[in-house]
Amino acid sequence: MGKNTTTSSSSASPAGGSGGALFKTKAGVIAATLGSAVGLGSIWRFPAEAQANGGGAFLLLYLACVLVLGIPVMLAETSLGRAGRADAVGSYMKLAPGKHWWIAGALGVLASYLIISFYMVVAGWTLQYLWDSISGALYDGAVSESALALESTFHHRMERYIGSDMAPLISTFVMIALNAGVLMMGVQKGIERASNIMMPLLFVLLLIFSIYALTLPGAGEGLEFFFRPDFSKITWSVAANALGQTFFSLSLGIGILITYASYYPSSTNLVSTSVTVSVLTTFVAVMMGVIIFPTVFSFNLDLSQLRGTTLVFVTLPEVFSQMPGGRWWSVLFFLLLLVAALTSTISLSEVSILFVQKRFRRSRVAATLIMMCPLFLFSALCSLSFGSLADLKLFGLTIFNFLDTFTTNWLLPVCAFCTVIFMGWFAPRGTLRDQVTDRGTVATRLYPAICFIVRWVAPVLILVILITSI
Ligand code: PHE
Repeated sequence: MGKNTTTSSSSASPAGGSGGALFKTKAGVIAATLGSAVGLGSIWRFPAEAQANGGGAFLLLYLACVLVLGIPVMLAETSLGRAGRADAVGSYMKLAPGKHWWIAGALGVLASYLIISFYMVVAGWTLQYLWDSISGALYDGAVSESALALESTFHHRMERYIGSDMAPLISTFVMIALNAGVLMMGVQKGIERASNIMMPLLFVLLLIFSIYALTLPGAGEGLEFFFRPDFSKITWSVAANALGQTFFSLSLGIGILITYASYYPSSTNLVSTSVTVSVLTTFVAVMMGVIIFPTVFSFNLDLSQLRGTTLVFVTLPEVFSQMPGGRWWSVLFFLLLLVAALTSTISLSEVSILFVQKRFRRSRVAATLIMMCPLFLFSALCSLSFGSLADLKLFGLTIFNFLDTFTTNWLLPVCAFCTVIFMGWFAPRGTLRDQVTDRGTVATRLYPAICFIVRWVAPVLILVILITSI
């Protein structure tokens, strides 16, 4: 997970390959990219989106989006980064000097920054839930209750917690400080090693939880909700949400992959890297669905009453409270979720920090402070939007929901649209072909299809979904 191999990335010059260090191994490339991808997006946001958008219908559209758009957009973005060997803005500048394409990179930097503001809040919840699992406070008095009572216990606990202003604010601030600390030091070996252990562990844990959830009585109904698409639920807005979720969970559209790919060695096979990362990330998301929905149905919960945002923090504790040794499973789960979130926030923050560092020639520490300090304010607003500021609405949405919707459904697709248009039509001739096909025959055989998608299918689909969802 995370920025593993990137002592390099944090200190490398945006000239990347020429001056800076590269990821050393194939495993390092995959681990770093996967670390950025697997985060709250697949674990927390995906089940919530699936719940709000009709279950199976959403899953179907999401899988289609990953396959048809996610992987090709990832290829376009990594090609841009590895060819440009610079940060998000610098890569565009390098490939299109004197043109305005750098604005697309700058938009990505903005998007990444807005996303961290609300992402930190949820990461903060994770911290609190980890703490409460360790202390046992989360499960106090929950063991002997009936399923329905359990539901309301955890639900109310969550509502009370996020609505309480102070407590979530503190955990959000701790998360920001934690990130700033790690980012200021550059990324340390400790994180790299921890991540390499945590990532496989997260997979194993999710597998155990899925098996457990599948054995719950009535699990079948949940699986049906999640896996059987009700085609009447497929609307443009569901499609837009699926597209947004695809970009969110694969870390697309905001310059993360441009930045990371500038540290890919030239021996990296972009096609196999993109496919591996996309498949594994999607696998995590699907496993979360397999855990959450059978549980919801087995406990007879009213799906429409559940607030999606809180699903992971309500439903999973219910499962844990029923499992033998549940409290310790809970500790493990929230710890892994925290690490998954942390490595993703680090990759999100890195985009803007590297941007400030390189474009405004600031030291690492100064750049980190410049970018992280205002976050205390922005994230505070997002956090309070569940409490005192709940009535403050932007376009009918709370600050948190507005930022989530605006960045995910609008900014990410717009940035990704610019990337595919640029790589498909405006980058120096042969850039995409050289980057995609320089390793192996499979990539060469796939190239015509990839090129067609990047030039035509992706831009048209993104546009159609954007326009119709207005
Ligand atoms: N992909 C990561 C996640 O799902 C981090 C991320 C979020 C990256 C949003 C880009 C946009 O949590």
